[in-house]
Amino acid sequence: MTFVIGENCIKCKYTDCVEVCPVDCFYEGPNFLVIHPDECIDCALCEPECPANAIFSEDEVPEDQQEFIELNAELAEIWPNITEKKDPLPDAEEWDGKKGKLDQLER
Ligand code: SF4
Ligand code: F3S
Repeated sequence: MTFVIGENCIKCKYTDCVEVCPVDCFYEGPNFLVIHPDECIDCALCEPECPANAIFSEDEVPEDQQEFIELNAELAEIWPNITEKKDPLPDAEEWDGKKGKLDQLER
């Protein structure tokens, strides 16, 4: 089991999640974060920390975001590790809650 970052992180990237992770299993792209499924120990600490409510337990990922399970696994292999909180993206508030952000994902 792992936790998964879903669509609402895209273009927000608040990074509060990375501060609480005991195993530093977050990886950072230009406008999205992912969790490495083989490193996550399923502690659940990050889920309530995300202001955008973008983090789900693998078995609670919404039906319309199932592709994010594979996307987290794929991108965690190629993006660099992030272990410290940084400022959110400049338009985070504006993008928070918008639907259909997957086409905004930068790799
Ligand atoms: Fe890290 Fe725990 Fe969140 Fe997994 S569930 S990403 S181990 S804080
Ligand atoms: Fe993204 Fe939420 Fe973390 S917006 S960077 S999953 S705190």
